[in-house]
Amino acid sequence: MIIEALLSNLMRWQARVKLGFPVPSPGRQRAKPTVSAEREHLLYLHVPYCEELCSYCSFNRVRLDTGQASRYFAALRAEMRLYSALGYRFDEAYVGGGTPTVLPEELGAVLRQARELWPIRSLSVETNPNHLTPETLSLLAACGVDRLSVGVQTFDDGLLQATQRYQRFGSGADIHRNLASARGRFATLNVDLIFNFAEQSESMLRRDLQIVSELGVDQLTCYPLMSPRPLRGPFTREKLYYRIIRETLAPAYRPTTAWCFSRRAGGGQPSAQGLGDEYIATREEYAGLGSGSFGYLGGRLYANTFSLPRYIELLDRGELPVVAERRFSRRDRLRYDFLMKLFGGRLDLDELEVRHGPGAAARLRLERVFFRAIGALRREGRTLALTEAGNYVWVILMREFFTGVNRLRAASLAAGE
Ligand SMILES: C[S@@+](CC[C@H](N)C(=O)[O-])C[C@H]1O[C@@H](n2cnc3c(N)ncnc32)[C@H](O)[C@@H]1O
Ligand code: SF4
Repeated sequence: MIIEALLSNLMRWQARVKLGFPVPSPGRQRAKPTVSAEREHLLYLHVPYCEELCSYCSFNRVRLDTGQASRYFAALRAEMRLYSALGYRFDEAYVGGGTPTVLPEELGAVLRQARELWPIRSLSVETNPNHLTPETLSLLAACGVDRLSVGVQTFDDGLLQATQRYQRFGSGADIHRNLASARGRFATLNVDLIFNFAEQSESMLRRDLQIVSELGVDQLTCYPLMSPRPLRGPFTREKLYYRIIRETLAPAYRPTTAWCFSRRAGGGQPSAQGLGDEYIATREEYAGLGSGSFGYLGGRLYANTFSLPRYIELLDRGELPVVAERRFSRRDRLRYDFLMKLFGGRLDLDELEVRHGPGAAARLRLERVFFRAIGALRREGRTLALTEAGNYVWVILMREFFTGVNRLRAASLAAGE
């Protein structure tokens, strides 16, 4: 348990130091992401609105205000056109939230515009169980959505009530029915579950996993509960629940990141095609559009304004809403790559050297020695791979990374940006 606590605190501190942006002074020239036109990137689009807010959620979301949201969607489309004019080319798009499907027609216009501007070959959209209506599913399918990700969290009625989701998304049986209606309509149907809620028992978790497996969804993402406050006591439970998830899913699902599992087809191959759970883990670089989005381009982290009125106002004036930028040192880029690639389970040292230059693998000596010493990594020729214990270590690291991003957003909003 000491190692887990130590890693959590270390990562929390690293996220604070490395993700912190200098507060922009008024009138300061705003950053403009540099284009590398020879490469195609991944596009992340953020829709922050939800009809109601879940008590546990610390992501970038606000309660829906329809009038503002319509202006927001128009601003998002304007931002896409600015990136196109800058020369960006995107081949994959991921629309996250919030709840991107709160205003389906507006979302449809965003998706159609993305396809007009760029040769998008895979398109992922997040949604909630109450939006799995025939109309919305048809609209998403018509826009060419390949991966639909549904936030279920749990099928347990008591837990749905405790998280105030029962009233809005229905009972576990309602959610099950809605999911069944979406099955087979997209190349990948993903379900998000959360584990380690205070009220969640082991049997609730086992039942959730059983329902998802029986439904035969293509992909399952199991997030550890993230809290802005440091976790103290429940490491034992988090670790136990994570072990239960891996063991229960192993026969039918194959891990694609430390917390995402794709259904195996015959021959042990994952059947789910298209995008994975975390776009930041699958691609080296991505542009983040929408209020409060982050982009990682050319070794720089960019942040869009967190303020919705300001986001809309800047785009109404035809200006990019990037308000902060942080240049990662060579070493930070290397460590970021190490963290993200191993979140996907493996790191190829030869490819690492292609991306970061000769000697890159040697420059990671300290990290490699440390993670091997705690039993998290093993060497397979020129590849580093997570061990079974290492998967849980990466759950801890990524939990803290996301918590760090969420805390930064809260701090920036409090600072007026
Ligand atoms: C930010 S939500 C957006 C999609 C959609 N609104 C939903 O509720 O699923 C994406 C996923 O983040 C996860 N999530 C939200 N808050 C979380 C928290 N505090 N800890 C862990 N996962 C969380 C949930 O599994 C959720 O499905
Ligand atoms: S979990 Fe999803 S629906 Fe709930 S507040 Fe967060 S983004 Fe909105």
